[in-house]
Amino acid sequence: MTDTATLTVDGQEYSLPIIEGTEGERAVDIRALRAQSGLITLDPGYGNTGSCESAITYIDGERGILRYRGIPIEQFENQPNFVEVAWLLMFGSLPDAAEYDRFSTLLTDTANIDESMKHHFQGFPRTAPPMAMLSAMINALSCFHPEFQELDDLKTFEGAAARLISKVRTIAAYAYRRTHGMPYIYPDPELRYVPNFLHMMFSQPYRQYVCDDAVRDALNLLLILHADHEQNCSTSTVRMVGSSRANLFASCAAGVCALWGPLHGGANVKVLQMLDAIHTGKMTPEEYVKLAKDKSSKVRLMGFGHRVYKSFDPRAVVLQRMAERLLSGRNDRDPLLDIARRLEEIALSDSYFVDRNLYPNVDFYSGVILRAIGIPVDMFTVIFAIGRLPGWIAQWREQNESPDARISRPRQIYTGNRETGYRSRLGSAKAG
Ligand code: CMC
Repeated sequence: MTDTATLTVDGQEYSLPIIEGTEGERAVDIRALRAQSGLITLDPGYGNTGSCESAITYIDGERGILRYRGIPIEQFENQPNFVEVAWLLMFGSLPDAAEYDRFSTLLTDTANIDESMKHHFQGFPRTAPPMAMLSAMINALSCFHPEFQELDDLKTFEGAAARLISKVRTIAAYAYRRTHGMPYIYPDPELRYVPNFLHMMFSQPYRQYVCDDAVRDALNLLLILHADHEQNCSTSTVRMVGSSRANLFASCAAGVCALWGPLHGGANVKVLQMLDAIHTGKMTPEEYVKLAKDKSSKVRLMGFGHRVYKSFDPRAVVLQRMAERLLSGRNDRDPLLDIARRLEEIALSDSYFVDRNLYPNVDFYSGVILRAIGIPVDMFTVIFAIGRLPGWIAQWREQNESPDARISRPRQIYTGNRETGYRSRLGSAKAG
């Protein structure tokens, strides 16, 4: 195979190196193109642009493959342990028992937030969206941890990562309790990562929430399936902000904002609203699908389609199995699961979706699972953020340590006015 590409412009040839990843993916390296030719490349939405080399997560969108540090995500299904996977992503290999114990202890010891941070929650209106509170409070952590402004050695990095992964649960639970007017519940050092989060969400001062094993495993697996997804919108945001050497907390707070949008993590809320609209009789599944195909409607079949997956989203496959497992162990069957199945059936036999390679994505079944656990809809994207955090941290670290790292600063093709003179139109109101 050739290891250079040749670009011919105006009769002039430019030779560009081809680089290859460990799974055989190839890229034309255009780093020197502008210096050589004055040309830039244009790719709105970055659908064809590699922004970095990364050793964290591998996706093959054509074959529906997702691997964390080489391990297929399906292999986490039997004994899901989110903390173990968080370590894997951030440090490159599965933790041994000593590393796991040390990190778990650190998570337990750092779960509480500074008492004065609680006053910040009081400053938000009861109607504040939890994602806004989450982002603001993660950013606020920078104020409480000046010692983690720069993470130059592994121990300091581990300390910052543990605090972020641990406290995000506390912040998320407190955001929920703020909007529901409930008293804040301190973390319980006797509980593991997921049961402790659910305890802070659902316990009352007079009644302890008890987490059953099926719920613990379901939420562990759901967080694992969201833990990283290479250069998606929020991760690219974290890298973009981090490229200016902004601290880890600020970079991850920006990631939360990017995740919030309905085309990204916010889709899990929209999926539930869509299923609910069908359930309450506003529309039949057939009518909804018809509307989603109508370009003038601006409606999309939420939880369907993906920039990278063009056969199926392997996370959705695992989540569908999990939804069936979780709900089959209960007496109350969720009608929304049946509606989701029906929508999937209609869409997958419709040429509109088949021809465009639109399949259920991670958000399609996650809402049904979160609902079964008792998580309210406005917290769905917050749960996605808790899951994605180890991925953001891993990607931030990889960039921070990369010898190739430069500030992210895309170029543009300017399409505005040519040079023009200043002729004020303010008249006598001109003084500023
Ligand atoms: N319903 C109806 N039509 C769709 C959908 C959908 N869910 N998704 C894509 N299309 C159509 C789109 O209208 C376009 O049609 P045409 O070629 O005729 O103009 C074609 O499929 C390609 O779509 P695109 O918007 O160019 O694709 P993209 O790669 O830019 O967008 C996406 C990917 C995920 C934003 C999009 O599929 C979508 O909006 N899906 C619904 C929202 C959603 O479920 N988002 C969660 C994504 S997975 C988790 C995450 O990343 O956070």
